[in-house]
Amino acid sequence: MTNVVNVAESDVADPSLAGEGQRLIDWAAREMPVLRIIRERFARERPLEGLRLGACLHVTSETANLAITLKAGGAHVSLCASNPLSTQDAVAAALARQHGIPTFAVKGEDSARYYAHIQSVLDARPQVTMDDGADLVAELHKGRRELLEDVIAGTEETTTGVIRLRAMARDGALRFPIIAVNEALTKHLFDNRYGTGQSTIDGLIRATNVLLAGKTFVVCGYGWCGRGLASRATGLGAHVIVTEVDPTRALEAVMDGYRVMPLAEAAPNADIVITVTGDINVIDRGAIERFKDGAIIANSGHFNDEINLAAIDDLSVEVTAPRTFVQSHRLRDGRTIHVLAEGRLVNLGAAEGHPAAVMDMSFANQALCAEHIAKHHKDLALAVHDVPQEIDREVARLKLQAMGISIDTLTDEQQKYLASWESGTT
Ligand code: ADE
Repeated sequence: MTNVVNVAESDVADPSLAGEGQRLIDWAAREMPVLRIIRERFARERPLEGLRLGACLHVTSETANLAITLKAGGAHVSLCASNPLSTQDAVAAALARQHGIPTFAVKGEDSARYYAHIQSVLDARPQVTMDDGADLVAELHKGRRELLEDVIAGTEETTTGVIRLRAMARDGALRFPIIAVNEALTKHLFDNRYGTGQSTIDGLIRATNVLLAGKTFVVCGYGWCGRGLASRATGLGAHVIVTEVDPTRALEAVMDGYRVMPLAEAAPNADIVITVTGDINVIDRGAIERFKDGAIIANSGHFNDEINLAAIDDLSVEVTAPRTFVQSHRLRDGRTIHVLAEGRLVNLGAAEGHPAAVMDMSFANQALCAEHIAKHHKDLALAVHDVPQEIDREVARLKLQAMGISIDTLTDEQQKYLASWESGTT
């Protein structure tokens, strides 16, 4: 059987943007030294030779660098968007035109085209899936089960996708092993915290140009993304309130110096409210009814269901668009609520997602996990796996090396001490 399958060429907004896209890809590459080291090794060793890899990721300049790395390793990559709003059209054009990577992604595509693009990636009969949010894996399991026999394993990039895949595994529905890249320390400690923290503020500011200093800024959810967002908003002078459902995380937020309260209590004073929870209807009708006139609300969680948009629509008498990523809802009682980026992730919808320097580590994990799958898939049980610790530590080591930072090493005496139990109080 040949490993290359006939696929539709690509579907991108404007192939003539390829030159601009290549410049963006090169610009991101400057900040992705770990991925560059991996790409150079992959080009020599070709660990993914002939492997068909279907990726459903945000089509950005950082993702392009990953796709190019996988191709350098010998993989036949096809790529579609993992969100209808996050595609950088110029980057998609460059991937399709200059790199020969079948790419199916158009910024602002409607739901039908979004799912058609996922089907186009599935048409290439992937042996490895690389997902961000688990839509590719879900579509494969729901409607294209005849393809399952070819799939050896997959990877998942994000918290929401991992939650979804664990639910599939619990139900006995998952048919191939997954490596949860999100669970690597070199992924979530940096991408979720510093990446989401910065890019969410970036999206908020690009969409609105609001001043954060002095504003009451509510962060819904105190996972790694929420922690990063709260600290960045504080750094810009906002008064941050955290809402949580988990008592330990809530306590941590209190001791990190934030006010913690239910959203219903925070809502009347909130100038800005941003969800980063991975759950649905976090901003529900009750909160919407309490927001003050002029409140700005946005979501930076993976799916566009953290804000109950149907409830807002139901209460609205008029919707206007004063700026590109702002929808202003005038409610029946006269208040106006501003919703950013249609409730989709504001950091990728209204800005460019996380900076390349953190995606460097996330995507180094992705590339090394793809190599791990190629080499060891026969040993992977049907489950959702953590990233092997050697990969996680190697990514940290390479990143430090690229930053020119060296660290201490344990002496033989210290290693022996750590492995022993005999010595105690002296
Ligand atoms: N997720 C968050 N930021 C991203 C980026 N810049 N590229 C790809 N996926 C992302």
